[in-house]
Formats: sequence, structure tokens, C-alpha cells
Amino acid sequence: MSLNSPAASTQSHTEVTHELPRVLGGSHAMAIVVGTIIGSGIFLVPTEMMQAVGSSGLVYLAWVVGGLLSLFGAMTYAELGSMMPYAGGEYVYLRGAYGDRTGFLYMWTWFAVAKPASIASVTSGLARTLGIFAVFHWLDMVAFALPVRVHGELLPVMWSQIFAIGMTWLITGLNYLGIKKAGDFQVLFTMLKAVLILVVVGFCFASSTGSWGNFATTLPHATGGVTGFMIALIATLWAYDGWNDLTMVAGEVKTPERNLPFALIGGLFVVGALFMATNAAIQYILAAPQIAASPRPAVAALSVVAGPAGAALGAAGMALSIFVTLNGTIMSGARIPFAAARDGLFFPPFGKIHPRFKSPSTSLVIQGLLSTVLLIALGRFQQLFELAVFAEWLFYMLTATTVFVYRRKHPEMTRPYRVWGYPVLPAVFVLSAAVVLYSSFVGNLQGSLIGTGLILLGLPLYEWIKRRYDSAAIAS
Ligand code: ARG
Repeated sequence: MSLNSPAASTQSHTEVTHELPRVLGGSHAMAIVVGTIIGSGIFLVPTEMMQAVGSSGLVYLAWVVGGLLSLFGAMTYAELGSMMPYAGGEYVYLRGAYGDRTGFLYMWTWFAVAKPASIASVTSGLARTLGIFAVFHWLDMVAFALPVRVHGELLPVMWSQIFAIGMTWLITGLNYLGIKKAGDFQVLFTMLKAVLILVVVGFCFASSTGSWGNFATTLPHATGGVTGFMIALIATLWAYDGWNDLTMVAGEVKTPERNLPFALIGGLFVVGALFMATNAAIQYILAAPQIAASPRPAVAALSVVAGPAGAALGAAGMALSIFVTLNGTIMSGARIPFAAARDGLFFPPFGKIHPRFKSPSTSLVIQGLLSTVLLIALGRFQQLFELAVFAEWLFYMLTATTVFVYRRKHPEMTRPYRVWGYPVLPAVFVLSAAVVLYSSFVGNLQGSLIGTGLILLGLPLYEWIKRRYDSAAIAS
């Protein structure tokens, strides 16, 4: 029997772990949700959002809609995750509901597009945040000397890309050393980042330079209309993104039937509250045109209330926050090809567990390599996150539909958590995901077409791998 078949979930959770140790507790689970979601987005995307919608009210509306959508997704996933708490998360649910080919396509998309694009945008967000420190620009001297060629032309590599690549490998290294270390890092620094956010928000609201009048200011030349709102919504979805990552490491969470739903749903409420507060603090200090013109709106607000030193400290804090996101993203991403390889659906080396550190070491390293390539090839924050959002939401939508399939076909499976508001809530999620998908497709046609091409490449690859490796022989 396949390890991830629905029937497998009736076995005890400890039996079906893909051999990665279950060492993460409730606080790790919560920190993986909260710490992975809060990263670059909240501090940076208010700029893109304001440019798109042009008013405070609409910016808030986008934050609320994006938050609700992500919450509905997390609630739906809480049912699936607590039912099948194994490595790979969405891959497991999709494969169980729709078969090997769909499971493979999901794995391939995340492995080849979504995760590398996420990692690359998180790290380029990190570089954008640290851009206020002139010292990093010295790296340009090294960077431009790099002989990276595309079609015979020298590709300009910038300091931010070099820096982003360095950070990718640092965190990949931490995860290589084992999930317990990476999990402890996540807990410690998530707590620190929550405190930092509250301090920054407190500072802004205590400042005499702030004004409630700013909330009524507008930007004259915003994109506007439905198109503008969708751009802003997609930007919030990037900021809220990562709500699903915990499900991928579910095979390493203790008492998953309790810890998964609690962390997924509770975590989104914590994030939502912190996001609303941060956004309000930025708007209290800066008027709409100032937000739209600032590449680092949160840092700009801090420099108004606390001067250059405060801004520098704030930027360092935000960099730390992004580091934690990177950790969660890298940690979870590596479990997807790992799980597929263990099921005999992907190249066997991906299923390797490091003998000493008990981490999916090969998966981690190859994920790092792909992210590096993407960073050099694309390198622009918005381009990267739009590609990630497109590829991810395609599968968020598909994965959420599996909740209906399992309820109908496998009513006997144990469901420690049943999604509230079934079937309306998951249905609303699926429909909204379709809308998001459509607008991110037309909004970023070139990126989405490249993304679609890469996804479709998975089809011949699947046939090839299936022929090459007899999956039954490997899985047994
Ligand atoms: N929400 C995070 C941020 O604003 C990005 C999360 C990356 N995506 C992911 N699935 N881990 O930086």
C-alpha cells in the first residue's frame, strides 16, 4: 500500500512518517505559520498597493479580503492536514484524491517554480530592505565582475542578488543540520519579530508627527478600478502567503491532530491582527503619495518618527523578520520532492535522509540551486512574487477541492478537525482562488506563460520517470 493513500491515514500517525522524526511541538507549529507568513510583504507591499488603488480605504479592503481568503484556505487545509499529517502536505492530499499524475504535477510545480520563486522573492525583498545600508552596495564591485552570460550577453548581476544568494545558502545550511535546529530558530525569532512589530507600531502611534488625517489622503494617478484592486489583492496574498507551509512538514509535528488545526487557524488570526496594526501605523505617519513613492514604506515611516538611527534599526529588524520567513519557506519546500521520491514518483536521491541530521538533505540542496538560478535570471521582487502567487494559487485551488472529494469518497477517514461552514467556506475559497488565478494570469501574462510552460513540462517528465523507475518497486 502506498504510504500516502487515504487508507494509510487510518494507521497511527507515528507509523507513517516517511522516517523523518516527529520533533516539532505546538510552539514550533505556531511559529512556522506566523513566522513564515510575516516576512517581506507587510513592510514592502503597501507601496505597490497604494500605487494600484490610490486610497487608504481600498488598501484596507484589500488587506481584509486577502486575510479572509487566506484564513478560509487555512481552515480548509486544517481538515486535510489533521486527517493526513504527512510530509509533503498538499502533495499528499492531491495524490490521494486525484492520483499520481496530479500529485506529481503539484510536486513538480512547487519544486521547479513556486518554491524557488518564493525563496528568490523573499531574499530579494531582504536585499530591498537592506538597501538603506550603503555598505551593501560595495558588493556591486564584485557582482558586476561575475561572468554570467545569457545568449552570449553578459547578464548584470547586482549586489542584492549576490546577497540574496548568500542568504539562501545560509538558511539552507541551517535546515540541512536538522529540523529541530531550524524549528527552534523559527520559534525564537518569530517571538522576537512579533515584539519588534508591536514596538514599531507603538512608536508610530506615540509620535506627534502622525495624523489620522493621512487616512483620508489619496493618490491621484493610481491604476484604479478592478484591475488596480486585483493588483493590490495579489500583493496582500503575497504578504499572507505561507499559511499552507506547515502542512508540508506535518510529518514532523507531534500530536498533529491538535497542533495542526490550532496553529493554522490561530496563526492566521495573529498574523491578521499584526498586519492591520502595521499598516495602520504606516498610514498614520505617511500620506498616500509618500507611501506610493517609498520603496520601503515601513522604514520610511520609522525614519520620520525615530530619525535615521531608528530607521536603520527598523530595517535590521525587518531583515531579521524576512530571515525567519526564508527559514519556513526553505524548510517546507524541501519536503515536497522528498515525499514524492519516497513514493517512487521522483528521482530517488531526493528521498534521501541525512544519516546524521535526519534532514532531506539532497532535496534541500537542489532547491537551493534552483532558487539561485531564478535569482540570477529574474531578480526583480514584484516579478518574482507574481510568478510565485500564480503557480501557488493554481494548486491552492485544486487542493481545496479535495476536501469535497474526501468527504464524499472517504467518509470513514478520521477527521480530528472538520472545516467550519462546510461546504460554503471551502467553496468560496475555491471560487475566489479561480478569480485570483485569472487576474494574476492576465496581469502578468509573460511570467504566467513561462510558469504554465514549466508546469506543463512536468507531464512528459512524469511519463519518463514512470517508465524509468518502476514506482511499485521503489515504494516497497
Ligand atoms: N508572506 C511572506 C512574505 O511576505 C512570504 C512567504 C513565502 N511563501 C511561502 N509559501 N513560504 O515575505
